[in-house]
Amino acid sequence: MFTGGVLAELLLSAAGCTMPPASPHADPPPPAHPGAAGDAPWWKHAVFYEIYIRSFYDTNGDGIGDLNGITAKLDYLAELGIDAIWITPFYPSPQVDFGYDVSDYENVDPEFGTLADFDRLIAEAHRRHIRVITDLVINHTSDQHPWFRASRSSRDNPQRDWYVWHDPAPGGGPPNNWASAFGSSAWTYDATTRQYYYHFFYPQQPDLNWRNPQVERAMFDVMRFWLRRGVDGFRVDAIDALFEDPELRPNPYEARLRPGSATEHVQHFKYNKYRPENFEEFRRLRSVVAEFGPERLLIGETYPRRIGELRKYYGEHDDAFQLPFNFYLLRQPRLDATAFRNKVQQTEWVVRGRPTAYALSNHDDRRAYDRLGDGLHDDRIAKLLTLMLLTLRGVPFFYYGEEIGMTTTTPERLADVRDPIGRRYWPAQRGRDGERTPMQWTAARNAGFTTAQRPWLPIPPSAATHNVATMSQDPRSILRFFEDAVRLRRSSAALLDGDYRPLGEDPHVFAYQRSVPTQTLLIALNMSRWPSAVRLDPIKWDGGAELELKISNVRLPGQRVSAAWISLAPYEAAVFEGVRGS
Ligand code: NOJ
Repeated sequence: MFTGGVLAELLLSAAGCTMPPASPHADPPPPAHPGAAGDAPWWKHAVFYEIYIRSFYDTNGDGIGDLNGITAKLDYLAELGIDAIWITPFYPSPQVDFGYDVSDYENVDPEFGTLADFDRLIAEAHRRHIRVITDLVINHTSDQHPWFRASRSSRDNPQRDWYVWHDPAPGGGPPNNWASAFGSSAWTYDATTRQYYYHFFYPQQPDLNWRNPQVERAMFDVMRFWLRRGVDGFRVDAIDALFEDPELRPNPYEARLRPGSATEHVQHFKYNKYRPENFEEFRRLRSVVAEFGPERLLIGETYPRRIGELRKYYGEHDDAFQLPFNFYLLRQPRLDATAFRNKVQQTEWVVRGRPTAYALSNHDDRRAYDRLGDGLHDDRIAKLLTLMLLTLRGVPFFYYGEEIGMTTTTPERLADVRDPIGRRYWPAQRGRDGERTPMQWTAARNAGFTTAQRPWLPIPPSAATHNVATMSQDPRSILRFFEDAVRLRRSSAALLDGDYRPLGEDPHVFAYQRSVPTQTLLIALNMSRWPSAVRLDPIKWDGGAELELKISNVRLPGQRVSAAWISLAPYEAAVFEGVRGS
């Protein structure tokens, strides 16, 4: 687990084209959801759900989730109100970085199924109006990929230049001081050809040389392969690391040491990340997606150094990523109204009305349930966070299990750690296993995730109470609240298309207005353990003197309150609608 966003921190330091002929695999794209209004692109109104495939649902009894497992759970996702799923890599891979080390871009790892399973998943998802986003790992391949095997075989192999090779520094050793995001030097020596190859991540993940046009061409063909099969878009991995400084200028160091290391200083990735060439490449990636029509989506795993830089990832003419990730909420370590208000406000200034992709949890960082929970009111806080994500002006990305309040379950013993980074820097860093434990479907053995003797990661103790079967029966559960909140969002023009206005500067309550001419909503999130109140300033609030409660994590909807004084229970999250003409 990368506590407090340590990974995030370490990772920091054209439409108008003709459509290609439909492939036999491609299904028609799903029609827009009933609640989706007007001409807005579909993703602006969508609720996204990230599926860490290894941990979602196992249908062949090997203890590892698979594609058929996702297909089997599509009805559940449809019921939940999910519009689009993002599936983490399922391609053939030695699984050193659990799929983020791809050894064949145009196939499915037998662990996860077959291409026919994938086609069926797409067809079944589209039948339910669910779009499918796949992960595109283009910065690096596995060292077992045939391209790298060829590249490393000799200095004059035609694919030598597909990767980043350099001579040792004068006097020996790596070409420069660049560190890998996962620790130690980013250079590994290859004794056969007596040069170093570069890898921003593990040594088993050599970086592709994006300056070589053949690499670009090959990767664009990979994209077309999946677009033809019907994927609705890509989440593009590690895009800030695409290009490196050709002069190999050394990176500056920070004073602090890397957690868990007595010798490695944290490095500021000045010359091997964020190169200007990246941004030109983003536009070119988008143009490939756009060959298949304006409905296909490009999401970037973007870690801008400052929030102000987020804007650049959309492209100067909005011709790069339609949805660059916005990790500012995910990096927030504590529940704090002022901090959330500021982060959202900064985002608003930067994106200027463009859709922004908000997330609170993912497969690289601690889950929000325990990161932002207080240990006493965790379920109530989880509902508050759900409501925040669904009511901000942005596109919400949920991580599997967030809807049932899954916790980060960090390994207690080194012997149990699966993520290599956790083994290397134990115990200061314990890897990312904690946020990747199997989905909790039932209270039965292995949480209903697998029939295998042992799942690939242990089932957290919370599965006894926090599981889909139990929680779907309980009208007060996080799960049922999640469904209600999604329903509210779908049926509310103000939440789908309204503007955003923060209300007040209360240190405990994060309150904001979302409105369209026909509807004004107040969202009040009490992020403290104290009862609090909102008094609406008639100059800022234009929803009238009376409000009706639409949803709350504490009380039943329907109640009417005066705008002069709206009391909130500890950690209460509520949406009120201004009563017209009041
Ligand atoms: C970002 C992914 O989210 C992470 O899981 C992976 O380890 C790195 N990129 C390398 O691909």
